[in-house]
Amino acid sequence: MFPSLVLSSPVVCIPCTYVYSTASTHRVRAPRRRVFPRLGVHNAAQQHTYSKENDDVLANSILSNGKVTKIAHQLLRSCVRADDVVVDLTCGRGTDTLLFLELVKADGLIVSLDIQQEALDITRRRIREEFCEHISDEAERKKIEERVYFARTCHSVFESVVDGIAEKKGKKKSETNEIEIGAFTMNLGYLTGKDTDKSIVTRTRTTLEALDKASKLLRVGGLITICCYRGHEGGSEETDAVLDFVSRFPPEITVTKIDVLNRSGPVLLSCYRQR
Ligand SMILES: C[S@@+](CC[C@H](N)C(=O)[O-])C[C@H]1O[C@@H](n2cnc3c(N)ncnc32)[C@H](O)[C@@H]1O
Repeated sequence: MFPSLVLSSPVVCIPCTYVYSTASTHRVRAPRRRVFPRLGVHNAAQQHTYSKENDDVLANSILSNGKVTKIAHQLLRSCVRADDVVVDLTCGRGTDTLLFLELVKADGLIVSLDIQQEALDITRRRIREEFCEHISDEAERKKIEERVYFARTCHSVFESVVDGIAEKKGKKKSETNEIEIGAFTMNLGYLTGKDTDKSIVTRTRTTLEALDKASKLLRVGGLITICCYRGHEGGSEETDAVLDFVSRFPPEITVTKIDVLNRSGPVLLSCYRQR
């Protein structure tokens, strides 16, 4: 199903938008949505490394709510740098893309992919409504919107999309002539929402293809977070296949599984490249 979709649907790269520039003279208030309000708004020059505050919020997420999607965000906050190239492999309703917008600044690059146009449209709308609502200046809003590059395509071909955009933006390549990526997010399953098509789900083969490539392009100190759901048809098999696959990642990548045992939520896999 997916290969034909990929071939028949051209990659649509829509330069969307971004957030506020800290250098701006326009009056800009903090975006409304804040998953971890205590962390506040990051400065453009700030590097996201461990801090006592990060640790506290992470501990709180594990101890009190056990929501693995929140834990994933907290781990991403510890790893993503302001000038990183980051990729949301399953854009969906945009929650992860919005986090990237907060963490990655103008000299970084955010790429957000989904096989469904609807997901990209929802996310663009959320950026406009949630991130840009306080910005009165239209040019400034547009600048923010242009921080995310959307592509309607299968994530198994993400590297060609990222390469094309990164080249245009002049992003530096590694010694092996590849773009190094600071973070990937992958939230498996279907697009949630009242009127969405729940038959369009991530599939094991393309999921593993994307993860294989992602593990090879991750920079040192970079992170892949994967949320796996078992509830839908095929979800259990996909989750087992992903668990098996990431368990065999090379030792430079530390793979951790976070599974809240007495609830039926998703399993979080954290793949951190330490060297
Ligand atoms: C659970 S949702 C993602 C949630 C999202 N991360 C968020 O923050 O709202 C899964 C998404 O994966 C998308 N998807 C399914 N197969 C895909 C594929 N092969 N390539 C890219 N996206 C895919 C679906 O269309 C759906 O929007």
